[in-house]
Amino acid sequence: MFEIRDLHVSYGKVTAVRGVTLTARPGTVTLVLGANGAGKTTTLRSAAGLHKPDSGEVVLDGTAITGRPAHWIVKRGLVLVPEGRRVFAPLTVLENLRMGGYTTARGELAGILDRVFEMFPVLRERQDGPAGLLSGGEQQMLAFGRALMAQPKIMMLDEPSMGLAPTMVETVLGSIRAMADSGIGVLMVEQNAEAGLEVADDVAVVSRGEVVFSGTAKEAASHSLVLRAFLGDAALVTEN
Ligand SMILES: Nc1ncnc2c1ncn2[C@@H]1O[C@H](COP(=O)(O)OP(=O)(O)O)[C@@H](O)[C@H]1O
Ligand SMILES: [Mg+2]
Repeated sequence: MFEIRDLHVSYGKVTAVRGVTLTARPGTVTLVLGANGAGKTTTLRSAAGLHKPDSGEVVLDGTAITGRPAHWIVKRGLVLVPEGRRVFAPLTVLENLRMGGYTTARGELAGILDRVFEMFPVLRERQDGPAGLLSGGEQQMLAFGRALMAQPKIMMLDEPSMGLAPTMVETVLGSIRAMADSGIGVLMVEQNAEAGLEVADDVAVVSRGEVVFSGTAKEAASHSLVLRAFLGDAALVTEN
């Protein structure tokens, strides 16, 4: 069980996150929707230890991990797959994956790598080639694979479908569902509400740094506010 409780985060005098509370459970996908600038990335980065929150708590399996160093948080089992994937283009696919396993005991790496290759066979095929030559969708799979190398309990995904061709969006969403079905708790930020709702169990909507809706995916799909504000063109509106 993973909880972000009443998180407040600012950049200097600008408050980006005002009391966000989110939960992710093992084996499920929690979808976080919200327009550009709503505070989604800031929330994830703060939970991952990459930006210091002003207040609030981040709790993983009963342990407060708030404000801890990022590598310590990864070792506890919380991993962020950042926006834009950030694979190391000149390095090989295998080298990228090995970097993801930096907190993992050496003796376990081969077994974990095998499971990653089982989930993403394309990574096995391309393991000796540079990551920069992979397609956008394949790079997203590499980013997932790299995160899986740390044996996460919880994965936070920032805009995994961004910039991908529609057919690739389906494939990537399928892998997200598969990662959750393997027991991992997934907290996924998306602006593509329609795509995200296909694989989500729970949904939260963030607007101007606050959670304005949370419920099951079924409730979200039938909730007029959510539909109106986030399944239409309004999802593209910037909140700055
Ligand atoms: N590094 C930064 N410095 C100053 N302001 C930032 C920075 N990153 C984000 N912001 C601001 O914080 C708010 C939330 O941004 P962000 O968390 O990236 O939103 P989202 O991921 O929902 O699009 C926005 O108003 C944005 O301009
Ligand atoms: Mg963002």
